[in-house]
Amino acid sequence: MTTLSKVDPGSIRFLRNAQHYATLLATLHERMAWAVGGGGEKLMQRHIERGKLPVRERIDLLLDVGSPFLEIAPLAAWGMYNNEVPAAGVVAGIGLVEGVHCMIIANDATVKGGSFFRETVRKHVRAQEIAAQNRLPCLYLVDCGGAYLPEQDQVFPDWGHFGTTFYNQCRMSAEGLPQLSAVFGGCTAGGAYIPALSDEAIIVQGTGRIHLGGPPIVKAAINEIVDGEALGGAAMHTRVSGVTDYLATDERQALAKLRQIVRHLNMPPLQPLPAGRALPPRFDPAEIAGIVGGDMKQPYDVREVLLRLVDDSEMQEFKPEYGSTLVCASAHIHGLPVGILANNGVLFSESSMKGAHFIELCNQRNIPLLFLQNITGFMVGTEAERGGIAKHSAKLVYAMSTARVPRLTVLIGGSYGAGNYGMCGRGFAPHFLFSWPNSRIATMSPEVATTVLTELRKSSLKGDSADDQLAALAQETTEQFTRQSDPYYATARLWDDGIIEPEQTRDVLGLCLQLLAQSNARAAGPSPVFRM
Ligand code: COA
Repeated sequence: MTTLSKVDPGSIRFLRNAQHYATLLATLHERMAWAVGGGGEKLMQRHIERGKLPVRERIDLLLDVGSPFLEIAPLAAWGMYNNEVPAAGVVAGIGLVEGVHCMIIANDATVKGGSFFRETVRKHVRAQEIAAQNRLPCLYLVDCGGAYLPEQDQVFPDWGHFGTTFYNQCRMSAEGLPQLSAVFGGCTAGGAYIPALSDEAIIVQGTGRIHLGGPPIVKAAINEIVDGEALGGAAMHTRVSGVTDYLATDERQALAKLRQIVRHLNMPPLQPLPAGRALPPRFDPAEIAGIVGGDMKQPYDVREVLLRLVDDSEMQEFKPEYGSTLVCASAHIHGLPVGILANNGVLFSESSMKGAHFIELCNQRNIPLLFLQNITGFMVGTEAERGGIAKHSAKLVYAMSTARVPRLTVLIGGSYGAGNYGMCGRGFAPHFLFSWPNSRIATMSPEVATTVLTELRKSSLKGDSADDQLAALAQETTEQFTRQSDPYYATARLWDDGIIEPEQTRDVLGLCLQLLAQSNARAAGPSPVFRM
């Protein structure tokens, strides 16, 4: 049954919201330009003068013409390191190569020689995680100076650091997920292991280099004086050491070779989308901005958002007259079935149990879950506690955590406290998690945190300066929570897979659902490839 929209796109409220959202999108576009700009004009100029292509041009040449590229965490490291590490120095995303969806992980050598900062390694590991979950081959476009040495303690020794990226490469290869490299620049230490641990590797003559230790290290270690080309050049590695399998005379030839290798991978072809059902929504997805706006305190009916996300604006709502603060609905996005759980207010015991029940239904029917988070948390207070909110909310968390079907999450508004948990936050390993530019994420809002902390401190403060100290604490807390709950603070630290626009969300989710549907078709079987 199609629910009719009650939104009036001509209303003052709608127009004000849309106008406000336009400023949020302008900020997003400005920051995306920073990410795309890499290490800046001067370094880009030097890069090009060396006969090298900008990293995004390499990706464009690798992808099938006109096919989309779903970039992962483009704003990683935003606002960190004086904003000198755009996109954390690595571009990662899913794209089509010879009709096969692949994970592409490409170093940007204009950003500190493509070396690894904490966020670089997190992004690299996250991209590999997505590849493993969705059974995608990994294509590494390598141009990487290894660990960024001043940050070595943040990237080298621990689980989730550089070593894990190599562990992932080996494990994925052994599970039958091809790991392929093309080497475009100087790859030292950790950078050298990316091609060395790949199933097949290509190297570009003149600019591609691979060495565990570069000339300065060799001199320091064994007092041997050698130039980079003799030590780790393309000809040496392809004809003498056998570290690489193919020599390319330039970058375009290397990318064409990589495409040719993918063509011969014998990966199951892309599953065609079910025809016929994928009608666009009856209401324009561009209107979501005018519904949501940027004011967290302004309530709206989340069904209005759903009407603009799902095929034909058609959905089957489960228990529409019970637990109304959680909307649960079965629908299709780009022809693929999805079970949606969307917040429409604070979570009560009834809404939590309804969510748990709905998750079980989707599990039984093998339907992926989509969580749309806009949540301040579960209900508090004596009545709620006596009603067992702790155990009822736990049922939602338990059902969501143990669901056998894939889960997707989008932060469309607030993501606070245990609400973040119940609605499949990052800690619960959703297959993909995206945020909207108006979202906020923290244990609680700045206002609530300020009240809680000043109340806690009040009893221990005495004397004339107590009020001043409380005022200072209040200001500090508000400032801290405002800064840390900003979506850019979150995306910079890889708490999500990227900030996406409301209008793009349907297409992004459609691609994710398609990947999840086809991952079943790529059966896992042990198939290690030992380099010889
Ligand atoms: N750690 C810290 N800084 C690094 C780095 C690393 N691993 N690799 C590169 N950089 C820095 C450089 O100091 C330079 O910084 P600056 O712009 O502030 O001066 C910037 O990145 C660009 O490096 P540059 O050497 O000018 O670029 P290039 O394109 O000529 O060479 C490399 C790139 C990666 C081949 C070269 O920088 C290199 O060999 N780096 C050292 C690699 C290494 O020893 N790694 C061991 C890690 S365990």
